[in-house]
Amino acid sequence: MNGLKRLRGSVGMRRLVNETDIKTGALVYPLFVREGQRGAEKILSMPGQFRYGLDRLPYVAEELAAAGVGSVLLFGVPQKKDAEGSGAYDKNGAVQAAVKAFKSAGEFTVITDVCLCEYTSHGHCGILFGGKIDNDATLTQLQRIAVSHAEAGADIVAPSAMADFQVRAIRAALDENGFDGVSIMSYSTKFSSALYGPFREAAGSAPAFGDRKSYQLNPANTREALRESLEDEKEGADILMVKPAGFYLDILSKLRQKTLLPIAAYSVSGEYAMIKAAVERGFLDEKKVVTENALSVFRAGADILITYYAKELASGFKGEL
Ligand code: PBG
Ligand code: ZN
Repeated sequence: MNGLKRLRGSVGMRRLVNETDIKTGALVYPLFVREGQRGAEKILSMPGQFRYGLDRLPYVAEELAAAGVGSVLLFGVPQKKDAEGSGAYDKNGAVQAAVKAFKSAGEFTVITDVCLCEYTSHGHCGILFGGKIDNDATLTQLQRIAVSHAEAGADIVAPSAMADFQVRAIRAALDENGFDGVSIMSYSTKFSSALYGPFREAAGSAPAFGDRKSYQLNPANTREALRESLEDEKEGADILMVKPAGFYLDILSKLRQKTLLPIAAYSVSGEYAMIKAAVERGFLDEKKVVTENALSVFRAGADILITYYAKELASGFKGEL
């Protein structure tokens, strides 16, 4: 028997030499909050996930706390949209109210998605001028959104619009408004991916025309992806992100070598949907595949894992592979 086999010989041995763990404290649960709705509405392409009315949030918070999940990432589904996405910085908007609900429900770290696509009538992540993104006008909106989330009590704001200089602009706006203690988790390396489809159904945020290729990254390019994250680090991001996770572990691992900042990986809606679909047909063992998937992300170098499976990973899926 060689030495490697000896070290794998028992559960205790495997635990002793385990190089990677799924860190419960590093899991973030993303969820959708719907304005003006009560109860929980199923998201068809993401079985097990819901659009929650504000009245449900205390129960969601209780479930998460019981499972050991301490962080949430909030998305809003507004009742009304306009060309400027002004609902995104409504003091009484769904996200703002949800931040307060989680902060009063317990010791949650509350992260908010800062983007316009759920709130604009055209579904793009920025303000349009002549069919193109107007970067400066978009920055002004993102600043308003981030400040309104901070006012509601968010701990971390997470800009995902991919506007140029969005991190610098948001950092400046937060500081000017007395929120220098609020952190920025930038969606710094966000690929133009087919894996966001279920999310767009959930949030009603598919672009009405065109696509997001002009502002999201080309899956073929590694150096470009690293540069985008390193730019955000220079602009003052506190946490970087690679999104999606599973198809981009090479990028994550390379970014790990280039930055000393914490890196989050976002296992997106399409990754969840693929696993769920296979599990529902009996092709894969859910616990095993989700655990292995999460391990791979931490092994590649992630400090934080944003996943729709946060609750299951934190509670039931802890066992031996
Ligand atoms: C908003 C945003 C998206 C996701 C997170 N923030 C959608 C998009 O860029 O189209 C996707 C998350 C997921 O698929 O789970 N810009
Ligand atoms: Zn967006």
